[in-house]
Amino acid sequence: MSIATIEWVDGRIRLIDQTLLPNEFKQIYCDNLEAVWESIKLLRVRGAPAIGIAAALGTVLGVWKSRAANYAEFSDELRKVTDYLATSRPTAVNLFWALNRMIMTAEKHQHASISQLKKVLLDEALAIIEEDRAMCRAIGKHGLQLLNEGDTILTHCNAGGLATSDYGTALAVMFTAHEAGKNISVYADETRPLLQGSRLTAWELMQAGIDVTLICDNMAAQVMKEGKIQCAVVGADRIAANGDAANKIGTYNVAILAQAHEIPFYVAAPTSTLDFSLDTGDRIPIEERAAEEITEGFGKRTAPDGVKVYSPAFDVTPASLITAIITDKGIALPPYTVSLRGLVTA
Ligand code: MRU
Repeated sequence: MSIATIEWVDGRIRLIDQTLLPNEFKQIYCDNLEAVWESIKLLRVRGAPAIGIAAALGTVLGVWKSRAANYAEFSDELRKVTDYLATSRPTAVNLFWALNRMIMTAEKHQHASISQLKKVLLDEALAIIEEDRAMCRAIGKHGLQLLNEGDTILTHCNAGGLATSDYGTALAVMFTAHEAGKNISVYADETRPLLQGSRLTAWELMQAGIDVTLICDNMAAQVMKEGKIQCAVVGADRIAANGDAANKIGTYNVAILAQAHEIPFYVAAPTSTLDFSLDTGDRIPIEERAAEEITEGFGKRTAPDGVKVYSPAFDVTPASLITAIITDKGIALPPYTVSLRGLVTA
């Protein structure tokens, strides 16, 4: 993508409003902290790495006009900003990873002047964007070896350029293969209830000239049974030390179906998505979203008034169902408790 998903422009944050795609391509500006929080909450900016970037830039915005007289006051303000942004969405660890990085950066430069500190924090947020860009390209390069000429890949949700600084994670593997001249095709799950697959993934792949076929989520089993899929590649919002991987609700279904049909199931994610503080995925917080996203998504009521609704936005695929995890540092194979640590310490 030549237009940045999210960027810093003259003291404001500019982002593509992803809730409007594919019907309307519009960039919006956030010039206060509340607008950043709301953009994350409402999924105007979404996808684990992009949420991390929004949190980092949001932190800068939150302290940009600080009148703190000393570091103690500045640090108090910074904590309030990061605590607030941390309440926007719970599952993607990249958000907390980025907020923590901003706090650590400020602490490291606590003897700088307040205006220097602001600049240092902006530089850190911009560094996160550049690192994410490089990580996405590296994921694409590593993942390339897993795809064969003529493969058709199933993906779920959107782990593309819109979900990152640029180029994506799961989609980076497909973009890289396509750019390398491999003839690949993709089946994109629609991804109920917010349709990231049909609205965003199908749109991105079509823009890149990759052959893409849209299916409803409940068609994946039949498509696999028909022999149409050679592998599944999805993104992740948080990966525990043992390889259990949280991703958009419905990903776990895909993994079970892939195993039943003896199809490799790959997770692609940057190392910023690894959470070694959690031994397994059992303690990954799962976001619950508003009932209306199911009962009247996109403006039309499709359920009886007053019906009870349960809407977990993510699920956790057990490591036992994951054939390999593609990271920016290389490909991790089971047992992940050993291989993931090995990749980041190598
Ligand atoms: O609710 P969303 O749209 O933020 O969920 C996004 C996903 O589940 C993605 O697959 C994940 O964040 C990986 S993005 C590279």
